[in-house]
Amino acid sequence: MAVASAFASIKSGGIPGLFFLVGLLFTCACRSLRAQQLPGTWEVVLEDARIASMHTAVTRFGTVVLLDRTGIGASRLRLPRSRCRIDPGDSLLPPGGKDCSAHSALLDPSSRRLRPLSVLTDTWCSSGQFLPNGTLLQSGGDLDGLRKLRAFSPCPLAGSCDWLELDSPLLADGRWYATNQILPDGSVVIVGGRAAPSVEFYPPSRPLRNFPFLATAEDAQMDNLYPFVHLLPDGRLFVFANARSILYDVDSGDVVREYPELDGGPRNYPSGGSSTMLPLDPADGYTRAEVVVCGGAQYGVFLHRQTDMPAATTCGRISATDPDGAWAVEEMPFPRVMGDMVMLPTGEVLIINGAQAGSQGYEMGSNPCLNPVLYRPDQPAGLRFMTLTPTTIPRMYHSTANLLPDGRVLVAGSNPHYFYRFAGDFPTELRVEAFSPEYLAADKASLRPVIMAAPERVWYGDEFVMEVEVPLPLVGLMEVNLLSAPFATHSFSQGQRMVKLAVSPAVTVADGGGDGTPYSYRFGCKAPPDGRVAPPGYYMAFVVNQMVPSVAHWVQLVL
Ligand SMILES: *[C@@H]1O[C@H](CO)[C@@H](O)[C@H](O)[C@H]1NC(C)=O
Repeated sequence: MAVASAFASIKSGGIPGLFFLVGLLFTCACRSLRAQQLPGTWEVVLEDARIASMHTAVTRFGTVVLLDRTGIGASRLRLPRSRCRIDPGDSLLPPGGKDCSAHSALLDPSSRRLRPLSVLTDTWCSSGQFLPNGTLLQSGGDLDGLRKLRAFSPCPLAGSCDWLELDSPLLADGRWYATNQILPDGSVVIVGGRAAPSVEFYPPSRPLRNFPFLATAEDAQMDNLYPFVHLLPDGRLFVFANARSILYDVDSGDVVREYPELDGGPRNYPSGGSSTMLPLDPADGYTRAEVVVCGGAQYGVFLHRQTDMPAATTCGRISATDPDGAWAVEEMPFPRVMGDMVMLPTGEVLIINGAQAGSQGYEMGSNPCLNPVLYRPDQPAGLRFMTLTPTTIPRMYHSTANLLPDGRVLVAGSNPHYFYRFAGDFPTELRVEAFSPEYLAADKASLRPVIMAAPERVWYGDEFVMEVEVPLPLVGLMEVNLLSAPFATHSFSQGQRMVKLAVSPAVTVADGGGDGTPYSYRFGCKAPPDGRVAPPGYYMAFVVNQMVPSVAHWVQLVL
């Protein structure tokens, strides 16, 4: 039936014709949306991870630590070596409190295989950070996990590494919904948490310190959990909670400065905004740092369970190192709560996961936001967002997103349910996906550098040489960007950081040919000057050629 005859039918007063026309218009709209190719592709990496991941971290072996919680009933993965956890206090377990299922796992995204890890105390809403030697330090949680520290010294999947739950030290304060940040000297600061307006350190060589910033809000303990913490290149901390932020001297304990408030509603748990610091750049001598905060919920949405209340549409961006820094507000293409901001090797920010309405918390979100968007910080305001290919899998509360060394972004987890429920709206989600940004598309392959030689470890201020091969001849400078492996949980990637390196012009080592032989280049790089710019530890070093990154080479930055 043609459109004309539908019109004819409406003209003659035919209501069915009207319905038909509306239907036809919708069909057209959907078709044209589908036909319109958006950038990026999705794949399912693992159909059934057998545990849901609420905390996710990528290790220097390329393996990925998945971490759920105890106290949620059994997962579908068994603990290694026929171990069981006995916890008579866990009311979700059968009488006797025996749980033989695993609540953590190590995943190898290349082979798509995983093996269980043993976490025996409750890691619910805990925090973490990689130490300078590559060990993942993980802290707090609920119940028996509230004051726990755990260490995981990573390995390839075939290795035998597992969690070590430390009997001592214990955390000085209970830490549930805290944020960790590695510091210039390689120690870790642990900030806040429920009923814990304090900071403490690992190792605990410095004492616990009150942190009134997290207690002074009228709605203390609301919208200030999982604070956004960024280590600025001057060694001080930018700490954001609710709608307020401060510059904190972590050595003296002084609040140096309070920034203006950010409009547009609260941004931290349970309001589920996200934040990242933009790349640090040698072009300004690593003196400037900008922070971006995106999405969130309106006041009261969590308290009043307004699961259909539209989420925040705004991002705030501030130059945190500028004494006159003020928030500039930008509009995202979608409202979003529980989004994750993932720094890509190009210095662009992927905003992914989450919902368009509601808040954080069990069953508190609705209308999943299936489209990631790309935030391009160097574009003029108004032109920075690009809408990307949607997934089909909602990623609600307790979902995570992490950059992999191959440039993909691994996505795991979603709405949690006691006893892992697979029915109803937003069921327990065991599928692990990867999003490939457009830079991984086949038509970019001729620009993609392959790292042929690079050091395993570098010291601050070191000059070192890298060698790459590229199919097409080089135009202009290569970039070398160091990216940390953060601890992703609750829409914030703790310790996420990108540091650009100063590079010298490339020298041609060998010319490629029309026969497919790649071009080979050598160039010099300069390591960051100190731990304030880049705390010690393992980084993914990406060589980026015209916005197309190599596969990363892990390099240890040594104090
Ligand atoms: C890494 O450092 C931590 C803290 O200093 C220590 O407990 C751990 O044993 C170290 N791991 C390795 C593999 O050296």
